[in-house]
Amino acid sequence: MTYYNNIVETANYIKKYFNEPIDYAVVLGSGITLELEDQQELGYEAIPLFPGNKRSNHVKGHANKLTFGKISGKNVLVLNGRLHHYEGYSMKDVAFMTYVVKFLGTKGLFITNACGAINTEFNEGDIICLDDFISLVSDNPLRGENDPRLGERFVDMTTPFDPYLVENLNNSAKKLDIKLPQGTYGFFQGPYFETRAEIRAFKTMGCDLVGMSTVPEVIAANHAGLPVAVLACITNMATGIQERKHDHEHVLKTAHQISINLKQLLIETLENLK
Ligand code: HPA
Repeated sequence: MTYYNNIVETANYIKKYFNEPIDYAVVLGSGITLELEDQQELGYEAIPLFPGNKRSNHVKGHANKLTFGKISGKNVLVLNGRLHHYEGYSMKDVAFMTYVVKFLGTKGLFITNACGAINTEFNEGDIICLDDFISLVSDNPLRGENDPRLGERFVDMTTPFDPYLVENLNNSAKKLDIKLPQGTYGFFQGPYFETRAEIRAFKTMGCDLVGMSTVPEVIAANHAGLPVAVLACITNMATGIQERKHDHEHVLKTAHQISINLKQLLIETLENLK
């Protein structure tokens, strides 16, 4: 199957390029930044088989490059920008890099995103460690023929987020005195921000947060047996909960501010991980 071959070849290409084993990978959401020690870069356009290598209409706030370097002595690969379903990419394209991360032999994946808060106990600027998700989108990356070299046909989702990574994130948050509540993320296709009625419906369903990314990658990570944890950054309250109208510039600005705490959390966590 070409999807599998493209994943393996891309992993080999990245391995050769950075020429060192990778311990952990991090996906950065809109407006979120993370600098590494001894940082090297590889632009997405230079990765021949990556479905996002011709991303001319890329979403503002995404740098579209891989960076590789050290955090707390660990070799970390950062995906600066992701593909979204709302851009027109298939779910398999969106999940492509998650499988590449698995085939790079990493020990885990940290996903970050910008999201809106439905739960009024949360505030703009908070970071939430995902405990569960609800997909509000009917498609997902596992639809279609299953390639057993990637994972099993039917994937258990009892604990979508890796307990070891989550426990370490919680310990780091406590140590740093950063609030890190748990929450359920609702995956909305977008790219419009939800209506007030949609937010009321999602609240009734049990969503604490809403956003337009992350879930395809989490599903692929579970399929591939790649430990994954998600840090969701609240850049705004959801439609109808805040009075202000939404705008992407505000999302980017708030996400950038949250990056400071996010970076501290990752530095501390990577320090303590095996
Ligand atoms: N809804 C969906 N996606 C988002 C939001 C939101 O309110 N904020 C940031 N990404």
